[in-house]
Amino acid sequence: ETPVLRTVAELRAQIGEWRGQGETIGLVPTMGALHEGHLTLVRQAKAECSRAVATLFVNPTQFAPAEDFDAYPRDEAKDRALLATVGCDLLFAPSVETVYPQGFSTTVEVKGLTRHLDGPFRPSHFAGVATVVSKLLLMAAPARAYFGEKDFQQYQVIRRLARDLDIPTQIVGVPTVREADGLALSSRNRYMTPAERQIASRLPRLMQTLAARLEGGAEIEAALAQARLELLSAGFDRVDYLDLADEATLTPSVAPQGPARLFVAVWIGRTRLIDNWPLSLP
Ligand code: PAJ
Repeated sequence: ETPVLRTVAELRAQIGEWRGQGETIGLVPTMGALHEGHLTLVRQAKAECSRAVATLFVNPTQFAPAEDFDAYPRDEAKDRALLATVGCDLLFAPSVETVYPQGFSTTVEVKGLTRHLDGPFRPSHFAGVATVVSKLLLMAAPARAYFGEKDFQQYQVIRRLARDLDIPTQIVGVPTVREADGLALSSRNRYMTPAERQIASRLPRLMQTLAARLEGGAEIEAALAQARLELLSAGFDRVDYLDLADEATLTPSVAPQGPARLFVAVWIGRTRLIDNWPLSLP
């Protein structure tokens, strides 16, 4: 059974005790509704640190008013049971009032990296993420903190804020965990009907085809335009973006200078899927 703490004082006392005994702490921030992707982060934390601490907080400030904050799946008892199976030492699950007490007025904003991709489609999202993750890193002061490459822009934003704010935690990126058909695991996948889930399985296949074309030297602009149309023909309702972008700057480019990835955000019904794939361009 993974113990749960709810206040910052209790969290600091437990972590302080561990640190006094020479232990290292690995932190895994989550919003719950845990799946194999989250559990992979906890396993890696446990393998690299002597204690793995998960956090569960559905952060209201990273959801826009029209987004799914209220509908977001919540099942703390099930999450705790799953965390126990991977040897998680502690769950920190604070209330909204604990994280954002009356009078809270500070925001962490990372410029540049949030200008493209998801940034324009979710205008206050990354400020909400950056603020809550800054707080969690300062509350727990872990040696390392683990984030999924599934949310690659989020991962880069968090690396940057840790660097810019001199937060002495090593930010570790973990490769995306996928279903057998290639669909990235996501807490939001459970929103889809079986018919929508069928359509979703076409996303990884289309993206693999596109990646192969680009790696084979296809003209980038034309290949992206064709793939956007293919996504619509495959049954996706809307393509927010399908871009090739530089990993370091997250700026879309048809002539990336360094390592690049394909980034996609598509809608099926009420579900928005995001994903990304590394590429080695010729
Ligand atoms: P959440 O969506 O619960 O994800 C928690 C962590 O799990 C994130 O680092 C995310 O990238 C990672 N993750 C999700 N699906 C994954 C997959 N298929 N493979 C690998 N890792 C995966 O991301 C958030 O919560 C929040 O924005 C948070 C960082 C907790 C701040 O509120």
